[in-house]
Amino acid sequence: MTLLGQETPRWRSRLEEADSPVDEINIPKLDGYCPTQDHEWCEVVIEGQPRRIRFHNYAELYKIPTLYEELFYEKLKCCSPSRVAGLLEDVMTDFGQEASDLCVLDVGAGNGMVGDELAARGVRQLVGIDIVQEARDAADRDRPGLYEDYLVTDLTNVPENEEELLRAKKFNCLSCVAALGFGDIPVKAFAKAVDLIETPGWLAFNIEESFLSERDDSGFCSLIRELSRQEIIQIQAYRRYQHRISVTGEPLHYVAVIARKLRDMPDDILANVDEA
Ligand SMILES: C[S@@+](CC[C@H](N)C(=O)[O-])C[C@H]1O[C@@H](n2cnc3c(N)ncnc32)[C@H](O)[C@@H]1O
Repeated sequence: MTLLGQETPRWRSRLEEADSPVDEINIPKLDGYCPTQDHEWCEVVIEGQPRRIRFHNYAELYKIPTLYEELFYEKLKCCSPSRVAGLLEDVMTDFGQEASDLCVLDVGAGNGMVGDELAARGVRQLVGIDIVQEARDAADRDRPGLYEDYLVTDLTNVPENEEELLRAKKFNCLSCVAALGFGDIPVKAFAKAVDLIETPGWLAFNIEESFLSERDDSGFCSLIRELSRQEIIQIQAYRRYQHRISVTGEPLHYVAVIARKLRDMPDDILANVDEA
């Protein structure tokens, strides 16, 4: 199926088939106030019942079938899972590599939007991680069988048995989309995720552009610079694009990054990453 000459996004096809309890999503009129992404909220009506939901209350969002896609993808025009997966595919093609060779650790996996895009490009082995149980439940509900395993865990403090399980998978690719910063995945957890990827491997992630600026004090910019400086990673693609619009209709620009992991991360980098 095509939409203005483009492929219909995978999430839209799924929405068309789903039974949605969402009657309305109303974005507030804020009279000049521009909340940061972690403070955005909306009013929803679910089977006749109105309620207010903060965007970063993922546990509540995921419990309501189709709400995540209807809010972020339909209403706020998010495109990041396909943008990041598409960029990874392009770079891999330049390297003469196939997506079917990837064993992907999808961090901040949510209900499987990114896993879905990767699977559509031929990735067969996917493991998800998220910090909330509701994300795993939503992935099982919305995309059953997509992930061969899905851990609910905190990457800043992974229990030994889970770390063993993860390392045994020998991941050669990390995906992390729409999940870094803003009170979501902190820099320490991201560093741990990079550490869990084998060498050589791939990293495919996105991040709001200010986290990569000189003025960033979250730690993401300095970690990525240090990894590049020490040639632990080599950035292959760096693409600025509109991730979605904000509640006030402004474009939110992110950067999609595809990097090669060239060598293992020395212990001191992980030990010295500051909590954001
Ligand atoms: C905006 S959603 C993105 C989900 C998915 N990657 C996508 O693109 O649709 C951010 C996800 O990151 C998860 N998250 C937030 N903090 C986390 C953490 N410290 N560790 C793992 N996941 C986290 C949230 O629970 C949520 O599912």
